[in-house]
Amino acid sequence: MKYRRLAGTDLDVSVICLGPMRAAAKTPGGDARSKAGEAALRAALDAGINFLHSSYEYETRWMMERVLRDHPKRHDVHHVIKVPVPDFKDGGRFDAAKFRLRVEEALTDLHAERIAVLQWMWRSEPNEDALRLPMLPAVMDDVWATFEKMKAEGKVGHLMTFPYTVPCARAAIETGRFAGLIAYYNPIEMEMAELFPEMERRGMGFLCIRPLYEGILTDARDPARLKADDRFREPRYAKDLARRARIAESFAAEIGASMTGFAVRFALASPLVGSVIVGLNSPAQVEGIAAAVAGDLPDPSLVGRAYDLWKSGFGLDG
Ligand SMILES: NC(=O)c1ccc[n+]([C@@H]2O[C@H](COP(=O)([O-])OP(=O)(O)OC[C@H]3O[C@@H](n4cnc5c(N)ncnc54)[C@H](OP(=O)(O)O)[C@@H]3O)[C@@H](O)[C@H]2O)c1
Repeated sequence: MKYRRLAGTDLDVSVICLGPMRAAAKTPGGDARSKAGEAALRAALDAGINFLHSSYEYETRWMMERVLRDHPKRHDVHHVIKVPVPDFKDGGRFDAAKFRLRVEEALTDLHAERIAVLQWMWRSEPNEDALRLPMLPAVMDDVWATFEKMKAEGKVGHLMTFPYTVPCARAAIETGRFAGLIAYYNPIEMEMAELFPEMERRGMGFLCIRPLYEGILTDARDPARLKADDRFREPRYAKDLARRARIAESFAAEIGASMTGFAVRFALASPLVGSVIVGLNSPAQVEGIAAAVAGDLPDPSLVGRAYDLWKSGFGLDG
C-alpha cells in the first residue's frame, strides 16, 4: 500500500480510504452483504489501509465496531467522520453539544482514542448556496472554538470540510480555518479541480470521495458486461453511461484492461489528493483496488486532459 502525507496535516494516510456506506445492512445481523462488508474491512486492514471514513448516517458503524473492537491494528487507524452541524433542519444554528456528540459517538463506536479528521458540513433546507454562503461566516467562529476545545482534549486532529459547491468551497478556503477539502472528484465530477492550484498554494489537502462515481467507472459497467439487473440500467443513468463511454474512448491507452484501475489511479494523479475514499464492499473489491494503486501512478498532465473533456460537456450536453 502507498501512503501520502495529507497536506495541511501531520497524517501519513494510505492512498485508499475505505468508505463503508453500502458495506452492511443498517441493522446488525449476519446477512450476506454485511458479512462481505466485514470481510472487506478486515482485508483492507490486512492490505495496509490505515484510513477509514464513516458516518452515523450510514448506520453501518455496527459492522465496523465488530471488526475494530479487538483488532490489533485499531490504534494505527486514522478516522475521518462526517460532522453535519448545523444539519438540514437546524435552521442555520450551530449547536456545540451536537458537534461534540457526533465525535463522542464515533470514538465509542469505532473504539478510537481520537478522530484524525473531521469532515465538517454546514447544511440548510433547501441546501442551497443562497442560504449556505451567509451561514458560513455566521457559525465559523463557534465551529472553530468547539473544534479547538476538543483538539486540546486530544479527541480530534484536523478540521476539513465538505463544501458541496464550488462557491462554498471558495468561501471555506478563504476562512483560512480548514486543513483541506473533502469532495466528489472523478473524471465525471471535476468541479473542484479549478481550486487545486489555490489549495496547493495554501498548503491545503484534498480527500477525494467516490472515485468510481458510485461504481459507474468500473469494469462491471462496461456495456458489454452490464448485467440485466444492474442498478445502472435505470434510465436516469443513461447520460452517465454515455459520459463513461466518452471517457473510455478518450483514455483508451491509459485505461488499458481496466476502467476501475484507471479511475482510482486518476484520482491520485494530482499530488494534492492525499487519499481516495472508495466504497469497498467485499475482499475482492479491496484486492482489486489495492492492486490498481500498487504500480506507477499517472502523470499529473492527465488531470488537464480530463478537465478539458469534462469542460466540453463530454460533447454530449449541447
Ligand atoms: N457527502 C459525503 O460525505 C459522502 C457522500 C457519498 C459517499 N461518501 C463516502 O464515500 C464512499 C465512496 O462513495 P461511493 O461508494 O458512493 O462511490 P465509489 O467509491 O465511487 O464507488 C464504490 C462502488 O464501486 C464498486 N467497486 C468498488 N471497488 C471495486 C472494484 N475493485 N472493482 C469493481 N467495482 C468496485 C462497488 O459497487 P458495486 O458493488 O455495486 O459494483 C462500490 O459500491 C462511501 O462509502 C462513503 O464512505 C461520502
